[in-house]
Amino acid sequence: MTLSAGRPLAHSTPHTFFTEQLPAYLAVQPCDIAGKFVFDIRGEAGGCWTVDLSCTPALCQHGATDDPDCVISLSDQDLAAVLRRDDDLEELFYRQRVQVSGDLQKAAGLLPLFAALTSPPVPRLETLLTPYPAAAFLERHWPGRHLVVPPAQARLRTLQSVAPLSNVSALLEHWRGTVRVFPPGEPDQVSPHVSAQAAAELYSRGFTLVFDSVDLYFPDLHAWMKAVQNDLALPATTWGRCMVYATPVGSGFNTHFDENANFAIQLAGSKRWKIALNDAVAEPTAGHRLGGNLHPELLPQMERPFPERVPDDHFEVTLHAGGLLFLPRGHWHQTTAIAESLSLNFTYDQPCWADVLATALRSHLIGDVRWRALASGTGASDPARAAAAAAEAGALLKQLPDELAALDLATLFANLRPTVRNVEPIDLKRDWVQALSHLSSVKQPGA
Ligand SMILES: [Fe+2]
Repeated sequence: MTLSAGRPLAHSTPHTFFTEQLPAYLAVQPCDIAGKFVFDIRGEAGGCWTVDLSCTPALCQHGATDDPDCVISLSDQDLAAVLRRDDDLEELFYRQRVQVSGDLQKAAGLLPLFAALTSPPVPRLETLLTPYPAAAFLERHWPGRHLVVPPAQARLRTLQSVAPLSNVSALLEHWRGTVRVFPPGEPDQVSPHVSAQAAAELYSRGFTLVFDSVDLYFPDLHAWMKAVQNDLALPATTWGRCMVYATPVGSGFNTHFDENANFAIQLAGSKRWKIALNDAVAEPTAGHRLGGNLHPELLPQMERPFPERVPDDHFEVTLHAGGLLFLPRGHWHQTTAIAESLSLNFTYDQPCWADVLATALRSHLIGDVRWRALASGTGASDPARAAAAAAEAGALLKQLPDELAALDLATLFANLRPTVRNVEPIDLKRDWVQALSHLSSVKQPGA
């Protein structure tokens, strides 16, 4: 995979790095590492340089000092690979191609500095929506009104510079996770997880492939997804991720709505979307597929029954390679690939006030031992015990107005932490059996 776009130090030599690029970076970026380091670079382009981060401004000069905190030795080739981001300083250390003598702790402090130095500038919402202005999007569309942006090569180029997204084969070749596969004809019934190798075979037989949390495998894509999350001013508890959908011609997903907001970018091929506003439920906290089971949370949120098919007043959008659709949560949609389709979604949960305030309130209340006490008796079948628990909860709730008045919401919002998501355990053997049982019932091409 060649992901060289935007690498700031791709053509550095040790000399230009230590005498020009590193001093220029340190002149504008505050550095919280203290220490005096000697870099002993072996090879034709090598030499010795001292980097003194304990003084202000930091000092970078040719030659070794007598009293360094540590000496770091590596070859000119390995340094060049680190600066190109083809190799990692820490990994090179464990492979014994970087030697460190002296204070190992201080040397470890250099790792974030090298990571920051070699990282390309992170794209943001503006690049995702190009050429549509981000400010206009935030004013007119976010979070409730859809937007279609025509194809833009700049969007595609940036995406392809951060992950192997030019076609499904390129992604499968680099994919180290499992892939969800949806059988042709009945895409909503079964979605087992299979290996990338099995997914490639099933794709050739008409299965739709879904790659979950792709950003976790490609750090620059992850940084972009998080930067967009910041630009959207979403709560820190928001679960943001990137999903990739590889859809054979004629396949797609049946009518449904999601509880999250999606920016869908068509990477290759074309996909037709039928979209309709949702007059049955506003701001849903769960998704729903027509014909599927109703999430228990949705029932009290519904103002009228769901339609039996995509509503008649739907409109159609066809996305071609490079195009983007912003689809707010709750909108009905049904998709069909009209040419072999590869698309990527930036997907963001939509934490509502109930979510955010409940989390903030909890972080405030658990400062008080009375609120931390076990909610004892709330699961009792004995009516007397259950009533005692209810009385105890009632006494606490009486104090709630005082507690609410004491809340410093701005500080609580600022201190919200991202929710840790556990990776769902999967059973590859079981899922294989499921996938193969479907495979046996699917006609092969030419059969
Ligand atoms: Fe959807």
